[in-house]
Amino acid sequence: MTSIDPDGATVCVICDSRYGSTLALAREIAEGAGSGGARVRLCRVELSEPEFSVDSERADYREAQRIYRELPRATADDLRWAKGIVWGSPTRYGLMSTPLRAFIDEVAPLWREGALIGKVGAAFTSTGGMHSGNEMTLLSLLLPFMQHGMIIAGVPHSVPALVRTRKGGSPYGASAVTGFDGTLSVDDNEKAIARALGGAGGATGRAGTSGSRHRWNWPAPTGSPEKGHASCFFLWPQKGGTKVACIQSRGPINTFLWSLKSCHSVF
Ligand SMILES: Cc1cc2nc3c(=O)[nH]c(=O)nc-3n(C[C@H](O)[C@H](O)[C@H](O)COP(=O)(O)O)c2cc1C
Repeated sequence: MTSIDPDGATVCVICDSRYGSTLALAREIAEGAGSGGARVRLCRVELSEPEFSVDSERADYREAQRIYRELPRATADDLRWAKGIVWGSPTRYGLMSTPLRAFIDEVAPLWREGALIGKVGAAFTSTGGMHSGNEMTLLSLLLPFMQHGMIIAGVPHSVPALVRTRKGGSPYGASAVTGFDGTLSVDDNEKAIARALGGAGGATGRAGTSGSRHRWNWPAPTGSPEKGHASCFFLWPQKGGTKVACIQSRGPINTFLWSLKSCHSVF
């Protein structure tokens, strides 16, 4: 029997950002995690310049980059340290950005070790449009967590801002919609959803119950997982305990043949 222990939570928020809106969400998530009792690291990824179609003459770009570059660069050690990992990037063609993707590739040795199994993952993004990849980018950001055998944290509809929002923010993670000229700032609902994602009801609360206390039936750490298989874990609180479901794909992941593997109370 384990209980929720947010004081034991360590949360690493990793962001990529050009004009500052994804960075603004990252700051809200970090604040939410800190308020929820977690020790927090806020990091950036390495830039891969030149990036086409970015207006590097814009004042908001220059200011955002000045602040962004002051953040420490995320490393594999940050991911080892954190029980909760929250990463995000601006959308690029409906998917995560190249610099964040490059970081995820860089920490691939952690996957071989199984070092992130049982940890908590959550995602955030910023998009120009409301219907041009906002939720798809969040989903693309969540998929690597599933490959690592991590538990996904989202935003429940008990968060009032999620019901009120007319712009970004979704059950799949925190998000902002900046408009195609990038001039819309992150609004109050989007900020509140981001804080909730990082906070005691989101990544921090989940991270307080994750990690080595849970042992999953998993392939040998340095071996290859069974070809074409993937797992993802969902946690949801309910009266009398928290339920955990492990959903495994059967066959190639892109066929989406998911099956409910197990479902039991663990604490
Ligand atoms: C190369 C490129 C591709 C983009 N693709 C999309 C897209 O597919 N959908 C969208 O809504 N916005 C797209 N955008 C807009 C950015 O994702 C958007 O401005 C975002 O809010 C910027 O976040 P930031 O302020 O953190 O840099 C694209 C921007 C660039 C430069």
